[in-house]
Amino acid sequence: MSDTTTSGAATSGATDGVATGASVATVDLDAARAEALAAIAATAPGDADALDALERRYLGRRTSVAARAKEAIKDLPPAARPEAGRALSAFTAEIRAALDARRAGPVPAPVGPPPLDLTAGGHGRRRGHLHLVTQTRRALEDVFCGMGYEVVEGPEVEDDWHNFEALNIPPGHPARAMQDTLYVNLGEPEQVLLRTHTSPVQVRVMQARRPPIYVVVPGRVYRNETLDARHSPVFHQLEGLAVDRHITFGDLAGTIEAFVSAFFGRPVRSRLAPSYFPFTEPSAEFAAECVFCDGAGCRVCSHTGWIELGGCGLVDPNVFAAVGIDPERWSGFAFGFGLERVAMLRHGVEPIKTFFENDLRFLSAY
Ligand code: PHE
Repeated sequence: MSDTTTSGAATSGATDGVATGASVATVDLDAARAEALAAIAATAPGDADALDALERRYLGRRTSVAARAKEAIKDLPPAARPEAGRALSAFTAEIRAALDARRAGPVPAPVGPPPLDLTAGGHGRRRGHLHLVTQTRRALEDVFCGMGYEVVEGPEVEDDWHNFEALNIPPGHPARAMQDTLYVNLGEPEQVLLRTHTSPVQVRVMQARRPPIYVVVPGRVYRNETLDARHSPVFHQLEGLAVDRHITFGDLAGTIEAFVSAFFGRPVRSRLAPSYFPFTEPSAEFAAECVFCDGAGCRVCSHTGWIELGGCGLVDPNVFAAVGIDPERWSGFAFGFGLERVAMLRHGVEPIKTFFENDLRFLSAY
């Protein structure tokens, strides 16, 4: 009895053809949709045969879920048909869209950061490079090594004898005041100092070895000088010393012309003008033809066409006497100039403090 009632109720529900929710008559569209979408998702992307079979099963004209629902709609009371029709359209559209998406093939992987590849080469470390003063020093060392010179160095903290006395600058000599010396207080007044030039290394080399001598001496020097565009209390010099038989002023002039041209990379004329240094006799200041205007005169060379580079001369016999070299048998020349100064000229750098400020924009530009 109750069985009959139950089945009768179910039967009557179906035959009444009432559409509720997404069910059209006896067809449960919600359940069919869930089943269809799961089946589509389980199909290999791009598997046309399997997807066509699913389309026939759910949307085909004759026996599909959609076809049965369409038939069922006809049995509904007219007032219920529009809503049931819309539910069926929505079902059909959704299944078709899912089928078409699956037919389009594999879904491309989402674009994101590439996977970490531990075997890939790195970008490398950003490497630093040598300071422009060091580059300049090395370039000049190369030039002089090519001419047979050896590179030697000496201490930056010097004693009075090497820095002054042996260089023919006795106590009270005005050249001491001119050099604006920075003394180091180690008890004895005015005995130990920061070297004011690289010339004391001339003395040290001549004490330590016998001629022939061909050396260049790069190094840092100190003066109690106020910083301005071209002067700094600390800077670098390069000293040269040649001692051999029959060295003449002509050898000195030729050497200067040769290294100036080699350093600037093209023939550059140089000029010697009479000057005075206690440790050379005769003495000269040497200048190079202005590399900015080729000697025509410009702002950099103060419209003279020449740029002062340094001092030079033939080694004074008193210096030879101080180190025990016989000036009757040997003669020599010496010269010295500022490394920053020639770097400023070659690269157009100004003011001199640019070399010491450690501004990365300057450092990385050279
Ligand atoms: N030592 C001198 C200076 O610093 C330069 C110089 C070196 C001059 C060698 C003559 C010979 O000004």
